[in-house]
Amino acid sequence: MKAFVVLSMCPVLFSCNALLSNALDTITTNQSIRDGENLLSAGGTFELGFFSAGNPPKRYLGIWYKKITTTTIVWVANRVAPLADASGTLRITSHGSLVLLNGNGSDIWSSNSTILVRNPVAQLLDSGNLVVRDADGSDPNNVLWQSFDYPTDTFLAGMKIGWNRTSGFNRYLTSWKSIDDPSPGNFTYQIDPNGYPQLLLKQGSDIKFRSGPWNGLRWSGTPNLNPNPYYRYEFVLNEEEMYYRYELLNSSVITRKLLMPNGMVQRFTWIDRTHGWTLYLTAPIDQCDNYASCGVYGTCRVDTSPVCRCLKGFVPRFSQEWDILDWSNGCVRRNPLDCEKDIFVKYSWVKLPDTRSSWFNESMNLQECKVVCMKNCSCMAYSNLDIRNGGSGCLLWFSELIDIREYNNYGQDLYIRMAASESALLPSPQKKHKLVMGLAVSFGSAFLILVLIICVRQCKKKKMEIPEDNCENQKKDLELPLFDLSTVALATSYFSTDNKLGEGGFGPVYKGVLRGGQEIAVKMLSRNSRQGLHEFKNEVLYVSKLQHRNLVKLLGCCIEEENILIYEFMPNGSLDSFLFDPTQREQLDWSACFNIINGIARGLLYLHQDSRLRIIHRDVKASNVLLDYEMNPKLSDFGLAKSFTGNETQANTNRVVGTYGYMSPEYALDGVFSTKSDVFSYGVLVLEIVSRKRNRGFHHPDHDHNLLGHAWRLFTEGRSMQLLDQLVANSCSTSEALRSIHIGLLCVQRCPDDRPSMSTVVMMLGSDIELPLPKEPGFFNERNLLQENTSQSQPNEMTMTVLYAR
Ligand SMILES: *[C@@H]1O[C@H](CO)[C@@H](O)[C@H](O)[C@H]1NC(C)=O
Ligand SMILES: *[C@@H]1O[C@H](CO)[C@@H](O)[C@H](O)[C@H]1NC(C)=O
Ligand SMILES: *[C@@H]1O[C@H](CO)[C@@H](O)[C@H](O)[C@H]1NC(C)=O
Ligand SMILES: *[C@@H]1O[C@H](CO)[C@@H](O)[C@H](O)[C@H]1NC(C)=O
Ligand SMILES: *[C@@H]1O[C@H](CO)[C@@H](O)[C@H](O)[C@H]1NC(C)=O
Ligand SMILES: *[C@@H]1O[C@H](CO)[C@@H](O)[C@H](O)[C@H]1NC(C)=O
Ligand SMILES: *[C@@H]1O[C@H](CO)[C@@H](O)[C@H](O)[C@H]1NC(C)=O
Ligand SMILES: *[C@@H]1O[C@H](CO)[C@@H](O)[C@H](O)[C@H]1NC(C)=O
Repeated sequence: MKAFVVLSMCPVLFSCNALLSNALDTITTNQSIRDGENLLSAGGTFELGFFSAGNPPKRYLGIWYKKITTTTIVWVANRVAPLADASGTLRITSHGSLVLLNGNGSDIWSSNSTILVRNPVAQLLDSGNLVVRDADGSDPNNVLWQSFDYPTDTFLAGMKIGWNRTSGFNRYLTSWKSIDDPSPGNFTYQIDPNGYPQLLLKQGSDIKFRSGPWNGLRWSGTPNLNPNPYYRYEFVLNEEEMYYRYELLNSSVITRKLLMPNGMVQRFTWIDRTHGWTLYLTAPIDQCDNYASCGVYGTCRVDTSPVCRCLKGFVPRFSQEWDILDWSNGCVRRNPLDCEKDIFVKYSWVKLPDTRSSWFNESMNLQECKVVCMKNCSCMAYSNLDIRNGGSGCLLWFSELIDIREYNNYGQDLYIRMAASESALLPSPQKKHKLVMGLAVSFGSAFLILVLIICVRQCKKKKMEIPEDNCENQKKDLELPLFDLSTVALATSYFSTDNKLGEGGFGPVYKGVLRGGQEIAVKMLSRNSRQGLHEFKNEVLYVSKLQHRNLVKLLGCCIEEENILIYEFMPNGSLDSFLFDPTQREQLDWSACFNIINGIARGLLYLHQDSRLRIIHRDVKASNVLLDYEMNPKLSDFGLAKSFTGNETQANTNRVVGTYGYMSPEYALDGVFSTKSDVFSYGVLVLEIVSRKRNRGFHHPDHDHNLLGHAWRLFTEGRSMQLLDQLVANSCSTSEALRSIHIGLLCVQRCPDDRPSMSTVVMMLGSDIELPLPKEPGFFNERNLLQENTSQSQPNEMTMTVLYAR
């Protein structure tokens, strides 16, 4: 037995060694790489050779990952001069220049590195860097030329993006023309050296996105760039250099940042063969990341509608334009400046404005900064340069302030020059308040101490029966698998923001991969969540008891940490991103849409009738429908769900929760909810799916109706087909589409009793029975109901809570 093992292992070891020793990572002036031959880096991570791209295919010299299964090119030499055939050869001249020769010996690409050394060699390093160095030189790290200085579209660990300030040499990313064409595209991602440096994403000479200045921890406008156990980010600014780079702290991680042909900067991490490259980070993230989206002195907030408003103390330059959501001309001061008498008003939680016309000093403090800014009448604002350790350094702006956005729990302080007459904007040093505050604080702490004493006593009595951990509490009746916190932390790279999928009603949701490879979504109740512990517990209670292929599955919760839930991961995200995002919508053809319409109906039917609990979801909407690998829909977010018992089918609430645009009239106006309010929301969703338009914010030039009214109008005029989105229309079965619209309209009828039940809906979808004529929909033209803001594009539809006094 032993002999057999040894014998059978021998050849394997042998061939392995042979392979390693045969694969070269270096060529000398005597050697060359012909098409079909490769260089392999010493650790086997990267390979250099020729590959095909384009139509008709052309040959390029490039570097790609060797260890992973998907061919992923990270660098291309001859991106502007492709080879027509497989006759290319790479060699290094005795002058130390790398040259790429075509079949008849003329060089089509050269590194242009002429250095007089005795024995120049080209070596592919395990970092993916192709270097030219002197093999005889005393310093083996002496690099005479490197591909890292000429990046294409990929930003690898160890690469520098930025400037050699002595030589004026700039390294930056340039996108491919298309996914299949390595020639330089229209987008660049580079450090702009004017004023205090920032990263700019440009299309030609137009700025598309600006990272904001480096604040010591990250770029001011990249809240997601957080410390992470696997990477370290760094911005270096000194006399000689100005660059940005990241390093891998664990070399087993495979990650790359890419400037896509469509102008998105995305970071991918390789998970494994099945999951491939996983997207972890994207810029620009949202509407507010679009450069100067709100004009000068305008500020952008994704969670308000409309997203733009003027900074405090400013008014729209042209209010008519502003009112029709054209923000390009920005805002102007309410009161003109007067130089010497001016004051500075603090604005918090902002992304600092464009610094291209700024000035900075790293050693000044905030007070000195203010003095300098005060003295010069063209100084418009100041801030700290570095936010670490309470703040240091001075950044001054000498132009109108543009491209500002505000965040909720992130951002910096900016002090803007204002007329003295705006002093009302200053925080007033009210003595009375201080006194009251002081009293409140001392009362508060006395109270706290009292509570603590009581609590400690109680605890001693009851020995650790604090009803805090809902998972602990409920684990017996829930029969839920429990996960260790460390398992969850490891799976999500310690809740790194890179793994963050988004922000749900509760708080952040992270993507994770368990050790066995299973992908999970981890939901966490954040302290300042809009929804509270109550909803969170609600969700645990319901979801754990529900099992249906059209409902998102709860895999477990976390044993130590009360507020963490673990779900199956839905790789395709939520339905709204497919319906309303112009870049993604093509992935949903009619059959996928119809499958989704049917799936949601079955999921709701299960909730309403078949499940043990009988549940009203109360927040059915496109963003709560998640899609799995096969685009099967699964309802999620049961935070608002309510159970009803026996024959009871409706209830009253004085706390109306749900989402504008999907709420039925009886629920929104009177707080009466029933399964029929879910039916209404379902109907809205069906109409949104077929039309690819949001009900909320729908506008039509001919009339004032919302999507429901529009659909009904077309239906009564026999023109329902016109409701279909062009894409849907092209791929659809006319009868299925017309039937879906008809059913959607039946579901959104004003009177709950007229709406079909979900079981009827499922039956109507699956058969040819004749359908009744729908009556007028509820809410078909009351667009301004509940102070709803009209906005053409509402990026995120928040779940709202409206309280009614009863
Ligand atoms: C190139 O080949 C010649 C002859 O085979 C040999 O003498 C010389 O050392 C080689 N040079 C290098 C740099 O390998
Ligand atoms: C070199 O070869 C290419 C084809 O590989 C051919 O199109 C071209 O005319 C040749 N150039 C010269 C100078 O011979
Ligand atoms: C090398 O020089 C040629 C001619 O000046 C130029 O066209 C080419 O872009 C240069 N190559 C690189 C890699 O800079
Ligand atoms: C910057 O460029 C100068 C001049 O080419 C060169 O001497 C220096 O080594 C470069 N600095 C770095 C850090 O690469
Ligand atoms: C890139 O720029 C060129 C010239 O400005 C333009 O013709 C082309 O349409 C642009 N391509 C894309 C994908 O925007
Ligand atoms: C690197 O990460 C892998 C996988 O997460 C882990 O197994 C390994 O121990 C890590 N290595 C170091 C040096 O941290
Ligand atoms: C920055 O400020 C410090 C302290 O005020 C001063 O000594 C230094 O000269 C300033 N540096 C520049 C470049 O202005
Ligand atoms: C104010 O600052 C600007 C920009 O640094 C400078 O050009 C101008 O001379 C300064 N004005 C005064 C009065 O110092």
